[in-house]
Amino acid sequence: MVKAVVLGAAGGIGQPLALLLKANPLVTELGLFDIVNTPGVAADLSHIATPAKVEGFLPPDDGLLKALKGADVVVIPAGVPRKPGMTRDDLFKINAGIIKDLATGIAKAAPKALVLVISNPVNSTVPIVAEVFKKFGTFDPKRLFGVTTLDVVRSSTFVSEIIGDLALSKDVVVPVVGGHSGVTIVPLLSQSSHSLPSSVDGSAYDALVNRIQFGGDEVVKAKNGAGSATLSMAYAGAEFAGKVIRALNGEKGIIAPTYVNLSADAEGGAALTKELGQELAYFSSNVELGPGGITKINPLGKITEKEAELVKAAIPELVKNIETGVNFVAEAY
Ligand code: NAD
Ligand code: LMR
Repeated sequence: MVKAVVLGAAGGIGQPLALLLKANPLVTELGLFDIVNTPGVAADLSHIATPAKVEGFLPPDDGLLKALKGADVVVIPAGVPRKPGMTRDDLFKINAGIIKDLATGIAKAAPKALVLVISNPVNSTVPIVAEVFKKFGTFDPKRLFGVTTLDVVRSSTFVSEIIGDLALSKDVVVPVVGGHSGVTIVPLLSQSSHSLPSSVDGSAYDALVNRIQFGGDEVVKAKNGAGSATLSMAYAGAEFAGKVIRALNGEKGIIAPTYVNLSADAEGGAALTKELGQELAYFSSNVELGPGGITKINPLGKITEKEAELVKAAIPELVKNIETGVNFVAEAY
């Protein structure tokens, strides 16, 4: 019995994500909240012959709190997407306030839920959620995740394209660590489950890393003003939420890269900090999942010199992004 809730459920990501969650047989209740259109989206999805009972909510009459009541898992794709020429940080001004309000609702109505943040800039919106929860005394670092799965999905696809067999992409696993924007996206290609051809070194390696780091821009450019990745994000979001839900349901040994507060696992966090050579409150690494969220943060492990350089380049940007999120909440109260 799992209740999943999508906040921003009428949007470009929200609708297909809600569809995929409705198709998940482990989900028995699906709450949909948005500032528009959720009654229609819920009515539409409710005709699909799967177990989840679907209900749509709008802001009037405490709709947010009603949607969240009893939630086990809350996924947040609410907020504005990029247009060509914008960075994810350019979204902060609008999305920070939206995330702060939604986090306040979660703290009040579903303080024990596992919270999965998709809204950009993820490197800053996750700290916003944490700081709001701290204000309400409900912060449990084990229960908060920044969704970086799209970077993992892209890596699997691009690597299998290079290998020349897209059918492999469902099996190719490349850990992606750091954060979710530009240089903070660090694919550990040396740990890929499937080796790259030896021709992928030098500029070909750099081009692959660059494509993974800036894959989002590729979609923003192609959509030409109509937004950013929605369908691939819904797929990635459903994949990550599916893992969280399976772990919640008692399945063991589920591991996924995700952007987390390193205090979620004191020992694992300390080991990772040692590898990074610097204290960071948040970082995306392979994380083991359990019924209460994060059970273990795994270290980076053996990485190449080139990957160590990429990690080093990510750190100052992450420090800045985290600070931006923390300061926003400090100034708001
Ligand atoms: P969209 O504009 O299509 O949908 C956003 C939805 O949020 C809209 O339906 C809107 O009504 C709703 N919304 C706005 N304010 C709200 C509020 N206060 N409460 C509830 N809902 C609210 O945008 P999209 O393409 O779905 O993208 C959503 C966000 O996801 C963007 O910030 C985008 O940058 C981000 N994103 C993240 C990743 C990732 O990998 N983490 C990938 C793609 C997109
Ligand atoms: C992505 O990686 O596709 C998302 O973060 C959306 C964006 O703005 O690029």
